[in-house]
Amino acid sequence: MRHATLALLLAGCFNAQNTPGEPLGPVTEGTTYRRDLQPLIAQHCQGCHTAGGISPFALDTFEDAQRHGGAMAAATQSRSMPPWMPDEQGCQPLKGSRRLTDAEVKLFQSWVEAGMPEGAPAQPMPVKQEKGLERVDVSLRLPAPYTPKANLTDDYRCFGLSHGQTVDRDIIGVNVKPGVRQMVHHVLIYAVDPVQAAASDAADPGVGWECFAGPGTNAKMIGGWVPGTSATQYPSGTGIPLLARETVVVQIHYNVLAAGAQTDDTSLELQLADGRVARPAEFTALANWWFNLPPMAMNQTVEASVRTPNAGTVWGVVPHMHTKGRAISVTKNDACLVNVKQWDFHWQQSFFFAAEDGLEFGAGETVKLSCTFDNPTSAPVTWGEKTSDEMCLVYFYVTR
Ligand code: HEC
Repeated sequence: MRHATLALLLAGCFNAQNTPGEPLGPVTEGTTYRRDLQPLIAQHCQGCHTAGGISPFALDTFEDAQRHGGAMAAATQSRSMPPWMPDEQGCQPLKGSRRLTDAEVKLFQSWVEAGMPEGAPAQPMPVKQEKGLERVDVSLRLPAPYTPKANLTDDYRCFGLSHGQTVDRDIIGVNVKPGVRQMVHHVLIYAVDPVQAAASDAADPGVGWECFAGPGTNAKMIGGWVPGTSATQYPSGTGIPLLARETVVVQIHYNVLAAGAQTDDTSLELQLADGRVARPAEFTALANWWFNLPPMAMNQTVEASVRTPNAGTVWGVVPHMHTKGRAISVTKNDACLVNVKQWDFHWQQSFFFAAEDGLEFGAGETVKLSCTFDNPTSAPVTWGEKTSDEMCLVYFYVTR
């Protein structure tokens, strides 16, 4: 609070020394809640920080903002908030970026330094509406409502959902409707061989089955969702084939810290193409699965690279590690595609490039993946599906 007090004192001096009619200088320019903070919070924070939202506190009112002013300034400066892992500087611009500009980060600080004034009421802010799909063709629900295990802070649960399509179709849009918003931390969606899905389900009592790393590495990824994002509409003309015989499997990460273990009934909406899409897409993976991270060693970097066998278009990336990951980046011929300097397992998601036509890849181009890990444990860590194992993996949303 020392800064705030100083700013207030200075403000007093300015006022006293200025004669009427003279411009007051920086003081009248001072940051206020109504003019500067409220629009910023509505756009960048309230998707999560609202009553009943996923975050532990709301930022709906002036009083809310005042109560959390210092923490907001700190969290935006350290860039832990809003949660958006990639640093796009020198990289590809991404669709739906949450990254604040430096000027926006400064506003949080200057508001606190100015003593968090409310300012003159501005126009009432429209409440940001969550955008749904253009059209909903299939609605999928959990086989039965599920209550996460209260003794686990984090419960990763897979559920098999039958989509009822009798012919092969293409998915062009995905929308997740979280049941208990305070608990649903991420949802990943896959298409899986029905025999494999049924076997996993049968092996674990209760609704669905435990699955920290998803329904298996041969599962076909369809999409994902994290709090605060709206429906995903795949780039125009592209879509992911969904075979009639496949089972849709969702992996839901429940975190019960904020609101305890409640009964959840998350549902899922799919938009399907009329006929087949011109450019069927898939998530292809590049990974390093032969690494060995020695115990008690920090900052260990693992790499994988490939020369693209065919030409194609890359539209987006999904970097993936577990909880010992620190940083992950992907380059094409040494030019940055995505760069995550501070990996956070809880905020992983798919990132689509802002470029409307995607990025063209020729045959024979070098794509490199680099993962950095800390292993503070007393055991070596290798590739695997368990929480204590690791992965160094990136999926690309590609069309050929
Ligand atoms: C995508 C959802 C989401 C968005 C958007 C978001 N937050 Fe958060 N925020 C959370 C969650 C969830 C937590 C609880 C801690 C956690 O899980 O990381 C949190 C925690 C915080 C905290 C507590 C301290 C900390 O760093 O953990 C502050 C302060 C904060 N957020 C401020 C903001 C501000 C300011 C914005 C907008 C500029 C914002 N958040 C945007 C979800 C979000």
